[in-house]
Amino acid sequence: MAFNFDKYIATYPDFPKKGILFRDITPLTENGNAFRQTVNKIADFVKSKNADLVVAPEARGFIIGCPVAYKLGIGFSPARKEGKLPGKKVSASYGLEYGKSTLYMNQSAVKPGQKVVVIDDLLATGGTIGATIKMVKELGGKVVGAAFIIELSELNGRNKMNDCDVLSLVKY
Ligand code: PRP
Ligand code: HPA
Repeated sequence: MAFNFDKYIATYPDFPKKGILFRDITPLTENGNAFRQTVNKIADFVKSKNADLVVAPEARGFIIGCPVAYKLGIGFSPARKEGKLPGKKVSASYGLEYGKSTLYMNQSAVKPGQKVVVIDDLLATGGTIGATIKMVKELGGKVVGAAFIIELSELNGRNKMNDCDVLSLVKY
């Protein structure tokens, strides 16, 4: 029987501000079996894509991206927020409700032609993952998949990934 990931997602109305229905993955990661099922399911997807590298955006993408890469014995590269990476970097900006934000990756993170799966906890507008994908491509990587625990379908983030396969475990 399929595992019920949905049961471990908490929902908070009006967080972090009025009108937002916030989906929270922490009950899922705090349950050993649910966390393992999540990592295994996403790792199966990454394996099926023959990926060489996992790239995930700060901060919640790390929670899922790291154990998946570890399980498969492939590399993990973080897409970090402003002021965190010390060396040569590439960057990509994306729009927020008010203003914009920028993510950074190490210039040496991806070898040309490497197959990359990008992973995050949640797909909303797709701004975060879109910026991550843009950097991977700029570094010569091939984005062969994108995986999320949660997809907020009505925000159409999937449209930002029209040339790669998308996995989401729970859709709202
Ligand atoms: C959240 C979430 C995703 C992103 C999804 O991260 O973890 O990364 O927003 O939204 P989008 O598809 O509209 O870009 P947040 O920016 O809150 O950062 P955090 O992981 O550091 O909490
Ligand atoms: N939950 C968690 N993170 C988010 C959400 C949400 O509902 N929307 C955008 N980022």
